[in-house]
Amino acid sequence: MSERDLYREVVDEVRELVRREAKGKPPRVALSKEVAARLEQLGGAKDLFDAPPAPPAPTAPPKAVAETGPSYREQMFAAPVMPVRQEVTPGDPSDSLERIIAEVGGCHKCTLGETRTNTVPGEGAPQARLVFVGEAPGADEDRLGRPFVGRAGGLLTDIIEKGMKLARAEVFICNVLKCRPPENRRPSPDEVDCCEPYLIRQLALIKPTVICALGATAAQTLLKSTALVGQLRGRWHNYHDIPLRVTYHPAYLLRSPGEKVKAWEDIQEVMRLLNGQIPRPF
Ligand code: URA
Repeated sequence: MSERDLYREVVDEVRELVRREAKGKPPRVALSKEVAARLEQLGGAKDLFDAPPAPPAPTAPPKAVAETGPSYREQMFAAPVMPVRQEVTPGDPSDSLERIIAEVGGCHKCTLGETRTNTVPGEGAPQARLVFVGEAPGADEDRLGRPFVGRAGGLLTDIIEKGMKLARAEVFICNVLKCRPPENRRPSPDEVDCCEPYLIRQLALIKPTVICALGATAAQTLLKSTALVGQLRGRWHNYHDIPLRVTYHPAYLLRSPGEKVKAWEDIQEVMRLLNGQIPRPF
């Protein structure tokens, strides 16, 4: 592919992204000085940016500007965007957690991209020794763009801070899905297929000592199993050479507090491994 074709593809992708994010308002994106300078250097690609967006984009036309005002291209590119299209292989040296956040932010691989308020890529220490993986953002997470901040999140935070005596910021918390399914329904297999590559890349970058899968969706996705949490918990699993422990989802524990004892056993075993009190299981 020529450089020009590559840029055309990137520009088309950015246009589409900007159009969707604008949700009917005039699209605006700002360019960093470096990117603007690089585009100027391209010279021959100028028409790509000055041309109006190609159909079928049903966007409002850009606002009229004075002769001395910003050009159409400047209006189009008025907040930094990171157009990343190609799939990145887990462990690729060019990959980063920031890149994943940017990709998730513009992701429309499934229909949840149309209904979400915010994406929820995950948060925590980039080199966390422990990663918690949940199912999908709920209403509070969708509103704030952060994982486990609602009622279930309160319980998870207590488990981490009061139970494990760790700071929430020193672990990494994320979900299988990065967008909220409407009405908090269970993720569909298609949605999991679309979103799982982000999770795989996050885990490949963080390389934690232990993964803790919270609930059936996380456990079944990571372990490629259809078994129930009750069947998967109580033993170590091997996730690409990372020890993985399954426990109940905090939302389930809120509904079934009698199961908290078992969850606490699971968490204590995770702590024993983190503290070197038991040997690595493999
Ligand atoms: N439930 C989840 O699985 N994840 C969240 O982030 C919140 C609730």
